Amino acid sequence: MFEAERFVADCRAAFAEDPTHKAVREVLARTVSDPMAVLKGLGEPKRAEIQELFHSDALTIIKVVWAPGMMVMPHNHRMWAVIGIYTGREDNVFWRRVKGAPNKIEAAGAKALCVMDAEPLGADIIHSVINPIDKLTGAIHIYGGDFFAAERSEWDSMTLEEHGRMASGTGVCSKKQTLVTRQPNTSAQPDRLLDAWPRAW
Ligand SMILES: [Fe+2]
Repeated sequence: MFEAERFVADCRAAFAEDPTHKAVREVLARTVSDPMAVLKGLGEPKRAEIQELFHSDALTIIKVVWAPGMMVMPHNHRMWAVIGIYTGREDNVFWRRVKGAPNKIEAAGAKALCVMDAEPLGADIIHSVINPIDKLTGAIHIYGGDFFAAERSEWDSMTLEEHGRMASGTGVCSKKQTLVTRQPNTSAQPDRLLDAWPRAW
């Protein structure tokens, strides 16, 4: 049985004992190891959305539902993260800065995250994300900081050059159209989706 309140309490207790991603990841891994329970607790995904489960200066826990085909351009977080999948799939491409051209990035690897995966991302990670399947993907994202207030960088999807730094919860981030570069097959109301999505991913 999954209860959001209990889950948040467990994550906060783990984080209080170990402020790295490790203890929190264990909680998330244990949680998504029973994906049906999470589905029951959080509800079957109906549309792309972000739901805040917990938010403080030191820790952010959100539920993220990706529409089929949705993509997010390369970006960093500047804090550790753990991504747990409870339905669908989320593919990550990892990038690194090009030596001699620090504003530019090149692909460094990729990982397909499937149901029951709980993947840690280091604070320096640059990644882009896609839901490659034709159904909604549901994930729990946990960040080791105030995800909504933190500044971060993004990289242009065409040129792979860094542009702009943003804090997603402060109104500084206004690049709605660039953050969601493709969103076919979604039944979500586009305006609502775009209003919600730039705040987190
Ligand atoms: Fe991200």
